[in-house]
Amino acid sequence: MKVLSVNVGLPRTVPWKGKPVSTGIFKAPMSGRVRLRTLNFDGDAQADLSVHGGPNKAVYAYPVEHYGYWRRELPEMTLPWGMFGENLTTEGLPDDTLKLGARLRIGSAEVVVTQPRLPCYKLALRFGRDDIVKRLLASGRQGVYFKVATEGNVAAGDAIVVIDGAEDSVPLSEVTRLYAHDKDDLEGLRRIIGTAALPDDWREYFEEQIGRASARGRPRPGQTPAWADYRPFVLKEKVRESEDVASFHLVPEDGQFLPPYLPGQYLTVRVSIPGIERPVVRSYSLSDVAGSDHYRLTIKRIASRSENSPSASGLVSSYFHDRLAVGDRVEAKAPSGTFTIDVAEHDRPVALIGGGIGLTPLLSMLNGIVAAEPPRETWLFYGVRNDREHIMRTHLEDIARIHPNVHLHVFYSQPRREMGEMGEMGEPGIHIGHIDLSAMQQLIPTKGCDFYVCGPPSMMDAITRGLEAWGVAADRVHTEAFGPAAIKRSVHGPTNEPNCGFEVTFARSGVTALWNRSESPLLELAEEHSVAIDFGCRAGSCGTCMTHLLSGAVRYLHQPNAPLQGDEILPCIAVPTEPLSLDA
Ligand SMILES: Cc1cc2nc3c(=O)[nH]c(=O)nc-3n(C[C@H](O)[C@H](O)[C@H](O)COP(=O)(O)OP(=O)(O)OC[C@H]3O[C@@H](n4cnc5c(N)ncnc54)[C@H](O)[C@@H]3O)c2cc1C
Ligand code: FES
Repeated sequence: MKVLSVNVGLPRTVPWKGKPVSTGIFKAPMSGRVRLRTLNFDGDAQADLSVHGGPNKAVYAYPVEHYGYWRRELPEMTLPWGMFGENLTTEGLPDDTLKLGARLRIGSAEVVVTQPRLPCYKLALRFGRDDIVKRLLASGRQGVYFKVATEGNVAAGDAIVVIDGAEDSVPLSEVTRLYAHDKDDLEGLRRIIGTAALPDDWREYFEEQIGRASARGRPRPGQTPAWADYRPFVLKEKVRESEDVASFHLVPEDGQFLPPYLPGQYLTVRVSIPGIERPVVRSYSLSDVAGSDHYRLTIKRIASRSENSPSASGLVSSYFHDRLAVGDRVEAKAPSGTFTIDVAEHDRPVALIGGGIGLTPLLSMLNGIVAAEPPRETWLFYGVRNDREHIMRTHLEDIARIHPNVHLHVFYSQPRREMGEMGEMGEPGIHIGHIDLSAMQQLIPTKGCDFYVCGPPSMMDAITRGLEAWGVAADRVHTEAFGPAAIKRSVHGPTNEPNCGFEVTFARSGVTALWNRSESPLLELAEEHSVAIDFGCRAGSCGTCMTHLLSGAVRYLHQPNAPLQGDEILPCIAVPTEPLSLDA
């Protein structure tokens, strides 16, 4: 095994499809010895350091044997060394069977195998053809990234010597297989996350993949809706719960049977609001346990933050509060959502943690738990500003009094009056402050609970971080976002150089745009380019934005709650993992 060529290059700006693009993919062979440092060869750099380069991708090597393959595949092209953006063109280096963590000596430097290369559009730019990205991935001839264990000098002709083959590790080809081909191979995914040499971003990606693959294998509630499309309901009763919150009891207009639902599921409602051109869609959790003659929604009126701008008040929540009268019509899709609990699983304790109006799905869960036998040990943590916002107080306190398995703790972050050690007016179970890790550790005797969390973004962020710090397994923490900002996790992995971007074609609109921001979902790209996609929750819950994927692939910023089939995707929480085309 030896080095045929050492190639370096600094970023340059070149035109690509009418736009200037900065790229370090153009590399030229060097004569003589070149110093390899922790992050780069001397004279080499990447254009976008947030995704390219870095210690785990300091050196990219591509075998000459693959050049033979590409010369046969692309006979019309000249392919000089460095064409694939590689720093080292190698001979005899078996990139697919090399194991993660294998240590090699090259010249006087030592490097460690970290990951295969997943190409982005900059390879297409270098080759002047779009199909090369897919073809490279499909060919399995991706080359290998190294991190630098010992800095040194490298020249063409230097031998490549295996110091440690990392025989117990997994081959590079396994990373590509699980990423690109066998995404549901749970056994393979579990094996690879246990591989010590796997870089952390890949581990996070595959952990999320395990969650997605497991969810796909389970029969998901709501996947077969109780009725198709929208069904007409009428408002039977409106119950005031607090100054800004009211419950709405809906009965089917046709008077027919009301299907049950799982605790934690929601209704997606559509209302026609006078003065608004098109019907408006929103999702609301079912706030009671199934089994009565009506569905109950509990809705907080989103008030305008400024008296001068009444238009900023919530459109649908204000409509429910101020205009919807008993007997009026509301259309609703069948109950849906995967933020649900199996109340019969009584041998595992559960912690329900709700902030503000985020209490609603947890109320349904709690009511389900106390209706089930045998009892399940349950902690309900409920955070509100003060007693004015404390809804369903009597109901919750009655449950806690009657059911010894239910432990109720309410947190006032801005109490209106002095509270003693026992809480408001000496009431046990009322605390001052926010729900945080120390409160949970103090009041919940075991971290072996299933945690269900729903609330404002800052609270959900703090709680999920707290649970992680406490060592609670990720698959025990279930969250639901009421809006787009809640728990916006960064896109993990697939180290597919995501910020490089991918071309997204909105086929029906005849628009092609470049997506290159790792946390911005496709819905935002569509809006920026005036492509109309209807939406409701912008959180992957209601299914309103569902769009058909014509080609390419996506992954999600978090697990979608809305049921999906075949080629359907949710652009409100989806980001591309390759160039794609949407039916929009
Ligand atoms: C799965 C799911 C379940 C939900 N369950 C419930 C529920 O049980 N009860 C409930 O009341 N809501 C619930 N929501 C939220 C609900 O769907 C609406 O987003 C909410 O009522 C606001 O809609 P709107 O039309 O009134 O406000 P919009 O017209 O959409 O927004 C108007 C203004 O208010 C701001 N705004 C929007 N939402 C909030 C907010 N939560 N807090 C502060 N400002 C905001 C917006 O930024 C905007 O400036 C749920 C959402 C989802 C996705
Ligand atoms: S807008 Fe609700 S799922 Fe996308």
